[in-house]
Amino acid sequence: AFIVTDNCIRCKYTDCVEVCPVDCFYEGPNFLAINPDECIDCALCEPECPANAIFSEDELPEDQEVFVELNRDLSLIWPNITEKKDALADAAQWDGVEDKLEHLER
Ligand code: SF4
Ligand code: F3S
Repeated sequence: AFIVTDNCIRCKYTDCVEVCPVDCFYEGPNFLAINPDECIDCALCEPECPANAIFSEDELPEDQEVFVELNRDLSLIWPNITEKKDALADAAQWDGVEDKLEHLER
């Protein structure tokens, strides 16, 4: 599956959802999660993310492994999102800030 990682937190640009052929993105307050059982590994979303927050599980940076379980767990409790919306207001300021996990809202 593809995995949404740390740099999505507090940015949530949502460009990714528009291209997903199986609509497997789920939306929290300041992060999106991919349901790994629904993702068909098409790779279309990866280049769409302005924050470069999406990785194939095979190419996931080592320090992002916690996001495998987080994507699974959060995708099961959050609502589906299929249409792009405005990014969070201060997305540009948070884009590139490291280790935003403490800011993840559930
Ligand atoms: Fe959707 Fe394809 Fe991205 Fe998986 S890899 S989340 S199927 S766009
Ligand atoms: Fe997040 Fe990138 Fe999608 S910031 S909402 S993974 S476009």
